[in-house]
Amino acid sequence: MKTIAIAGATGAVGRQMLECLKEQGIKGNVKLLASARSAGKVIEGLAVEELTEQSFEGVDYVLGACENDVTKKWMPWAQKAGCVVVDNSSAFRLDPQVPLVVPEINADDIFTHHGIIANPNCSTIIALMALHDLDDLFKIEDVVCTTFQAVSGAGVKGIGDLERELKDPDAKPEAFAYPIAFNVIPQIGGFDENGITSEEWKMQNEGRKILHSPELNVNCTCVRVPVWRSHSESITARCEKPVDLDVLREKLSHSEGVVLRDDPKNNIYPMPIDTTNQDNVFVGRLRHDVNDPSGRTVVLFCAGDQIRKGAASNAVQILKKLVEKDAE
Ligand SMILES: NC(=O)c1ccc[n+]([C@@H]2O[C@H](COP(=O)([O-])OP(=O)(O)OC[C@H]3O[C@@H](n4cnc5c(N)ncnc54)[C@H](OP(=O)(O)O)[C@@H]3O)[C@@H](O)[C@H]2O)c1
Repeated sequence: MKTIAIAGATGAVGRQMLECLKEQGIKGNVKLLASARSAGKVIEGLAVEELTEQSFEGVDYVLGACENDVTKKWMPWAQKAGCVVVDNSSAFRLDPQVPLVVPEINADDIFTHHGIIANPNCSTIIALMALHDLDDLFKIEDVVCTTFQAVSGAGVKGIGDLERELKDPDAKPEAFAYPIAFNVIPQIGGFDENGITSEEWKMQNEGRKILHSPELNVNCTCVRVPVWRSHSESITARCEKPVDLDVLREKLSHSEGVVLRDDPKNNIYPMPIDTTNQDNVFVGRLRHDVNDPSGRTVVLFCAGDQIRKGAASNAVQILKKLVEKDAE
């Protein structure tokens, strides 16, 4: 029986990973690791252990769900112990030696790994689930995207800010720079000299790698909104060829992991309240940009649970493919 460790098991993503292992039918011994603060806590009958240099001895696979600095610290220990790691942080995503994978899009890349496979950024996964069929059919050149990102995207602390502020509007924010209840904050990550945040760069940099489209341009604005869970995104994509919306709708309606919610006359469109706690990305509000007579520009709206498909479920899907291959 293989042993799977979850590093960061007490966090928003780590807890979800434990659920996803069961849902996706992955059998094995499971080891829960977190900081010394959590040692001894019990989650679903399993005691949490402090993550130390010895934690990975006898472990086959690691699901990483810690922030970058913590991940960079423990990764050499996991590598020394010979584990294969599927990591959720952004620490290794752009390393050319590390495949960056959304299984519905580039599953074959998994098997080029050298011990680490990276899970993409949550907004990037959700956007690309909505866009990869468009890219296959009509080749995307440029994307303009605005994200509406849930507080749980900032982990347990982000949920805590909204909880406290709903009870007491004067509560001091801890996860965010400003109150998030009854507000939106147009900043996720730090700004660079161009006024672009680290989160906003991810969709272009990671999108190019996942779609194998080195020329893809993405202009992104990331916004935190007072939604518990599920990110939404408004996307405008200009393609190389004119887009036939009927052909696109037909492809999306059969696309694995995608649900087409596109009936605006009946007020049917994607909303985060509907995508929460399930794995599909909902896509709708599909239309042409009427100001582009070439018909190459498409506008859409999508939503998906960023803790599930944007993080835990995607990582466990990758793990499942590794486990199946190893069992061959
Ligand atoms: N939340 C999302 O929607 C989302 C989506 C995609 C990707 N991600 C990425 O996934 C990772 C985890 O995010 P999250 O939202 O789950 O964060 P979180 O809720 O803050 O959880 C962080 C986890 O890391 C553990 N940890 C902190 N310091 C540690 C240390 N020194 N040694 C060992 N473990 C330590 C925490 O353990 P304690 O409880 O003991 O402190 C906790 O289990 C991050 O890299 C994040 O960027 C998150």
